[in-house]
Amino acid sequence: MRVFLILFLAIQPFLTATGKNKDRPVEVSSPDGSLKLVFEIKNSIPYYSLFRNNDAVIKSSRLGFILKEIPSMDKGFKLQSSQKSAFDETWVQPWGEIKNVRNHYNQLLINLEEENSPNRKLVIEFRIYNDGAGFRYQFPEQPRLKNFVIMDELTEFAFADDLSAWWIPAYGEEMDSEYLYRNCKISDVSEKTSTPVTLEKDGLFVSIHEAALVDYAGMALSHEGNRILKTDLVPWANGNRVETFAPMKTPWRTIQVASSAADLITSCLILNLNEPDRIGDVSWIKPGKYTGVWWAMHLKRNTWEGGPNHGATTENVKALIDFAARHELSGVLAEGWNEGWEGDWTMSGNFSFTKAYPDFDMVELSRYSREKNVALIAHHETGGNVKNYERQLEDAFKLLAQHNIHYLKTGYVNRLPSGERHQGQFMVRHYHKVMETAARYKVMLDVHEPVKDTGLRRTYPNMMTREGARGTEYEAWSSGNPPAHTTILPFTRCLAGPLDYTPGIFDILFKNQSTFRVHTTLAKQLALYVVIYSPLHMAADLPENYEGHPAFKFIEDVPTDWEFTKVIEGRIGEYITIVRKDRNSTEWFLGSITNEKPRVVKFKLDFLDKGKKYTAEIYRDGREADFTNNPLPVEIQTVPVDATTTLDLWIASGGGSAIRFFETPGN
Ligand code: NOJ
Ligand code: CA
Repeated sequence: MRVFLILFLAIQPFLTATGKNKDRPVEVSSPDGSLKLVFEIKNSIPYYSLFRNNDAVIKSSRLGFILKEIPSMDKGFKLQSSQKSAFDETWVQPWGEIKNVRNHYNQLLINLEEENSPNRKLVIEFRIYNDGAGFRYQFPEQPRLKNFVIMDELTEFAFADDLSAWWIPAYGEEMDSEYLYRNCKISDVSEKTSTPVTLEKDGLFVSIHEAALVDYAGMALSHEGNRILKTDLVPWANGNRVETFAPMKTPWRTIQVASSAADLITSCLILNLNEPDRIGDVSWIKPGKYTGVWWAMHLKRNTWEGGPNHGATTENVKALIDFAARHELSGVLAEGWNEGWEGDWTMSGNFSFTKAYPDFDMVELSRYSREKNVALIAHHETGGNVKNYERQLEDAFKLLAQHNIHYLKTGYVNRLPSGERHQGQFMVRHYHKVMETAARYKVMLDVHEPVKDTGLRRTYPNMMTREGARGTEYEAWSSGNPPAHTTILPFTRCLAGPLDYTPGIFDILFKNQSTFRVHTTLAKQLALYVVIYSPLHMAADLPENYEGHPAFKFIEDVPTDWEFTKVIEGRIGEYITIVRKDRNSTEWFLGSITNEKPRVVKFKLDFLDKGKKYTAEIYRDGREADFTNNPLPVEIQTVPVDATTTLDLWIASGGGSAIRFFETPGN
C-alpha cells in the first residue's frame, strides 16, 4: 500500500453528552476555529447549521429520511448521546495534483433514537475541517430495520445569503452532465441542479457536493425557495431513490468553504472523506498522455464502424504508436476496434467487447505497442446498454489481460435501459462493478458519460479520470464551448476530481473547411494541460497538425502527475492562473487562461526555489492573436527568471499562456 500515514494523532473522544445537556445544541469547530457546526433537535426534528467566524453560512437545515411502506425517519427523534474526537494525518496520493494530503478534522458523532416505538436508531457523523464540513448518516444494525427503501433524503443546505450559483441541470435534455454552466442567484435557480454546485458572494466561496458515493443514489439539489437547496436523490426507473439495508452508511454530504475561489481548488476535503486505498500494489498505475483514433471520427474523417473509412485499423493504430513513441506520449487510444458500431449504436448498444473488426489485429498491435514501449488504450462504448456490457464483462477484461492491455476508456452515450439514469443507484452500482473488475485485472479507467466523481480514486487508484462535462468533442460538431467555459470548469466540475477534457487542438479552424471550430486560441489549448487536472491527458488533435509545430514541445514536456498545485489567482468565468510542480523533476508548469476578454496577468514567481536560477519557456498568444479572427499565432520565448521575478503576460481574447520552468543548467 503506497498510501501511508506520515503523522497520526489517535482519535480521542473528548466529550460525551449525557443527562440534562441532551436537548441543548451541540457544537464542533474546525481545528483552526474558523468554522463551527451546530447540531440541534427542534420539535423532535434534527437540524444542523454552519458558521464561518460566527456568521451563518448555512442556517438551520433539516436532516432525515422518508422511507417506503414503513414509518419514516424524519421526526420523533431524541439525542441519545454524542461524542467528539479529533484526527490528524498526512497521507500520500499514489498519483495526483498534490502529493501529500493533510486530513485534519474534528468529529462530532450524533446518536439519535426515536422517542416512541419503533425506537429505531440513526447516527449522524459530522467532520469539520478548516476548509469545510462533511457529514453522513449511518443506519446501524438494529432489529427494527432490515431491508428498506429510501423515498426521499431530507438533507437541506439553507443558505443564509443569496449567493450567486454556478450550476448545470440534473435532469435536462442533453447528455448527462454535458452542459454549459449557468450563473444566477440561488433564489433564481429554476431547475434541479447536479453537484458540485459552486456559490459565491463577497469573499465567501462554497461548493456543495458529495464524497464516497457507493451503492446509493447520486445527490442532485432542488431549490425549495428561501435559498434552501434540498437533496434530490436521483431515482431508479421504478421511482425508488435508494434500495438498501441496515447496517449502511450514506455518502458524505460536503460543504467546502473558502475565502477565495482559488482556495476551493486546492481543498482535499472530498478525497479525505474517502476510504484509503483498497487495491494494495499500485505500482502498475501510471499517469500519462495519449494520442489516438478519436478526433478524426468526431471530424467525420473516419468512422467508428468498419468500412472504407474505418479509423481503428492496424495500420492507423501502428502509425499512431510510432507517433506516440517519437513524441514521448505514453498511450494510444483505439476507438471503434470492436464490432457493433453499425446503425444507431446510441439506441441499440449491441456491442461485442471481444470481437475485433477484421482490419484490427489485436495480437499484432499488442506486440507492436510493447516493442515501442507505448500502451494500447482499449475502448468499451456501451451505448448505455449496460446489461449487454455486464454480460460480457469478465470475458472483455480477460481479453485485455491476454493482450497485456492496462488502460481502458469506457463510454455510456445516451439513455440507459428502462429509464435508469447515470447518477441513479442502478448506475452507481454498475460503475462500481466495472471499477472493481478493472482493479482485479490491473486496468486503469477513463470513463466517459460517467457517474460524477466523489473521490473514489483514493480507494481505487485505478479510477483515474473521467469526462462528466462538456468536453472538447462539442467543438467538433456543435456550437462548441465558449471561451468562458474553461474558466468555469476549474471552479465547478473539476472540484469533484480529474477531468478528461481532451485538449490540444492546434487546427483551431478545421482548415476553414467546416462550419464548426474551436473557441480558443492555440496558446490556450496548451494552457489547458495545466489548468485542467487529469492524470491522463489526451493530445487530441491529428498528428499531422502537430508534426513540425514548435508549440507541440509544450505538450511533449508537460507532466500529468504533480507534487504540488498552487492557484495564483482566478475569478469564476473570467480567468485563472495555476502553477503545478512536477512530481518527478524540479520543473514547474504554469497555465493561465481567460474568457473572451483579453487581459494582462502579472504574477511573482515566488513559488520557485529561492536562490536558484530558472529558465522560463513561455508559450503565449502572438501579439495580434484573438480567438475569433486570429487564433493561431503563438510566441515562444525563453527568459531567465528566479523567485524574485515578476512576469507580465498579455493574454488574447479567448487566449492563454503556458510556461515550463526548469533549473538553468550550470547554476
Ligand atoms: C462520447 C465520448 O465522450 C467520446 O469521447 C467518444 O468518442 C464517443 N462517445 C464514442 O464512444
Ligand atoms: Ca461525452
